[in-house]
Amino acid sequence: MTILVTGGAGFIGSHTCVELLNAGYQVVVVDNLSNACRESLTRVEKITGKKVTFYQVDLLDQEQLNAVFEQEKIDAVIHFAGLKAVGESVAKPLEYYHNNLTGTLHLCDAMRKHGCKNIVFSSSATVYGDPAFIPITEECPKGKITNPYGKTKSMLEDILMDLCVPDPEWRVMLLRYFNPIGAHESGLIGENPKGIPNNLLPYITQVAVGKLKCLGVFGNDYDTPDGTGVRDYIHVVDLAEGHVKALEKIESMTKNNESGYKIYNLGTGIGYSVLDIVHNFEKACKKEIPYEIKPRRAGDIATCYSDASKAKAELGWTAKRDIAKMCEDAWRFQSQNPEGLSD
Ligand code: UD1
Repeated sequence: MTILVTGGAGFIGSHTCVELLNAGYQVVVVDNLSNACRESLTRVEKITGKKVTFYQVDLLDQEQLNAVFEQEKIDAVIHFAGLKAVGESVAKPLEYYHNNLTGTLHLCDAMRKHGCKNIVFSSSATVYGDPAFIPITEECPKGKITNPYGKTKSMLEDILMDLCVPDPEWRVMLLRYFNPIGAHESGLIGENPKGIPNNLLPYITQVAVGKLKCLGVFGNDYDTPDGTGVRDYIHVVDLAEGHVKALEKIESMTKNNESGYKIYNLGTGIGYSVLDIVHNFEKACKKEIPYEIKPRRAGDIATCYSDASKAKAELGWTAKRDIAKMCEDAWRFQSQNPEGLSD
C-alpha cells in the first residue's frame, strides 16, 4: 500500500514515516517545508534504508496537490500538515483558519477526485478544552477551546465526520494526541522547532544544551499535587505506531465492508507535572535544569490525561515507552543536534 503523508517532514510526521517504512508501506510525503526541512526525510531514509518519495507542495496549491494524486496511486492519507503554534494562532487567526481549513478541504477534494477516501487525521486532546472529566475518554464532550489553532482541529474533525454522512466510502480515523515528546532512539530525528520553543520539552532540551538560560514554569498554584500543570506525555514513536495501527484498522474495515469515522485518544493514561518532567529530564541529561516560577500562561488548564483503553481494545495499541525513555531519547537528539536540523 502507498500512504500519502502530509506534513511528513515534521516532528510527528517524520517518526510516522519511519514506522510506515518499517511496516512495509510505500511512503509519499507532501510538505511545504514551512516548519520542517528536507534533511529530516534524508534521515528517515538513513534509519530505515528505504526511499521516501517527496513533493514540496503546499496544500493551498490545489493544482500541484492534484498532480501528486495523478502521479502516485495513493491508498490512504495520513494528514499532519498544518500550522500549530497556539500563541501565533491567536495573533494570526485568519492565517490559521485559512491554512488549516482550506488546506484540508483541498486535500479531501483531491482524495475524492482520485477515489481515495481513507484518511487518518492528526487531532489533539485540545478539542476537550478544560475536560469535563479525567481521565479523558472519547466520550468526554468537546469543550470550549481558547485559541484558533485548537478550534481548527475541532472544526476539521467535524468536517471529516460530515464527509461520512452522505458518502459511505469514507473511512476516517480521528486520532486525538496528548503531549508528544521524545525522539527516535537513533538520535537522527526529533523535535526541531524554529525560534523559541512554545512547548515544554523542547524548551527544556534547549536549556540543557545551553541555548536558553532558564525554564519558566507557568504557574505553581494549580490544583495538582505540586501545583504545576499535569499532562499526558507520550513518546513520539509510540504515537507513530498508533498511526500504523489506525491504517491497519482502515484495512480491516475495508475487508469487512465497514466505513465511517472512529475517534481514538492516543496517550499513556499517566499524568506528569511540569516539575516531574524537569526532574526526569535532569536524570537523563545528568545536569540541573534551572527554572523559575512564572505566572500562569493564558489558556492553560490544570490537568489533562487520557483514558486510552479504547485504542487498546479496538486498535490493539498501547504506549510502551516510559517517561525515562522519552527524556533519554529527547536528550540524545538534542545533544547530537544542538542547532537542530536544517537544509
Ligand atoms: C500545547 C497546546 C495544545 C497543543 C499541544 C501540542 C496550549 C494551551 N496548548 O499543549 O493545544 O495541541 O501543545 O503539543 O498551548 N510549560 C511551562 N513552561 C514552558 C512551556 C510549557 O511551564 O516554557 C507548561 C505548561 O504550562 C503546561 C505544560 O508545561 O502545563 C505543557 O505545556 P506544552 O508543552 O506547551 O503543551 P500543552 O499546553 O499541554
